[in-house]
Amino acid sequence: MTCIANKKTIVTPSILRLLFPILFIIVLVSLESCSNPNEHKSLEVESLKDAFEKDFYIGVALNGGIIDQSDSTSLNVVKKEFNSITAENIMKSAIIHPKLDSFNFEMADKFVALGKTNDMHIHGHTLIWHSQLSPWFQDIEDSLEFKSATENHIKDLALHFKGIVNSWDVVNEALNEDGTLRNSIFLKKMGADYLSLAFKWTSEIDPDAKLYYNDYNMTNPEKRQGAIRMVKKIQEQGIKVDGIGMQGHWHLNSPSLEEIEQSILEYSKLGVQVAITELDISVLPNPWDLEGAEISQNFENSEKMNPYTKGLPDSVQIQLANRYKDIFNIFLKHKDKISRVTFWGLGDGQSWLNGFPIRGRTNYPLLFDRNLKPKAAYYSIIGLKEKFDQLQTTN
Ligand code: G3I
Repeated sequence: MTCIANKKTIVTPSILRLLFPILFIIVLVSLESCSNPNEHKSLEVESLKDAFEKDFYIGVALNGGIIDQSDSTSLNVVKKEFNSITAENIMKSAIIHPKLDSFNFEMADKFVALGKTNDMHIHGHTLIWHSQLSPWFQDIEDSLEFKSATENHIKDLALHFKGIVNSWDVVNEALNEDGTLRNSIFLKKMGADYLSLAFKWTSEIDPDAKLYYNDYNMTNPEKRQGAIRMVKKIQEQGIKVDGIGMQGHWHLNSPSLEEIEQSILEYSKLGVQVAITELDISVLPNPWDLEGAEISQNFENSEKMNPYTKGLPDSVQIQLANRYKDIFNIFLKHKDKISRVTFWGLGDGQSWLNGFPIRGRTNYPLLFDRNLKPKAAYYSIIGLKEKFDQLQTTN
């Protein structure tokens, strides 16, 4: 194609004045068509974190091998792609606070150092959770003693990471599916007040940290109403809650896109941010969906429940990519309400979903495959984002 912009033309000033508007348009069009095709490369996003830089943090949960840097291949992908990190396990009470009077900060300190060095948002998971609970909690009979030890647990952790951990899951999974409070050791020993106290104690020590309530199945309407009631009660006491964490352990066909969107809207009406904190999408049959099915050893290693041991068929790979695209479409639509989207693991081979709810399966729930290569789902999300930005600029 001829490059008109580079052609020399001799004209008088009066002709130039007359022709100026036309010439201006011609030059603009010509510059556009003469631009080096390689220049478009600089417009293409290089990573997830670049793609969503202006929208929300893009995070990943780190396992021990990444945190202690023994898995350098994974670590490099994390550094390239993500700007927020959560520890998958090593900040839970059983690991970080194994005995009443002693902490084990070694791995957690490595985790936060990694985040600091790489200028990442650091999310703390989790201060109060009934699972992976340190045994000393169970050993305390007296309620007042239990309350005081719980206060110390929260305050000691918040203090150790003050100014370093940017946000905390203060309480994790306190709700039943019907929206009532789970009968956890915390509820039994301290009553429902443990929820507001946990938020109060954390904010007293680190008022700048963003404080979240985090749970799974947060799109389930009854549970959602329970979470809203709980957060309102805490807010009514003048105690701050900064966000709701929707874990996002989802499936190819559930929850519905409407339920996801509705939940984001309802939570944000509380005046809090919404984070998607543990995103993964199982592609395997769900034993709970099978009529009359029992979760039992019988399901283990059955071909029916573990159909993709030799690789994921293209049709399912595309289904997964489309599902991620649809979900991210909602996230982008409501990006003003969303602070962070964190994937629960880096590559498919590292996902907890290979062991749950049936051990020893081969699942494919994440954006990177077992060799840490980006999957169709990765490209579907980045492609969606590019299209979204183009639409924003043309509107
Ligand atoms: O590290 C030990 C190892 O030393 C031991 O030999 C081995 C024997 O089973 O266990 C290893 O610990 C396991 C740990 O993961 C680290 O791999 C635990 O058994 C296992 O229970 C633990 O599972 C974690 C699970 O939480 C525990 O409840 C998963 O990795 C982790 O992904 C999962 O994460 C939770 C979130 O914290 C909260 N929301 C739900 C989510 C999925 O369950």
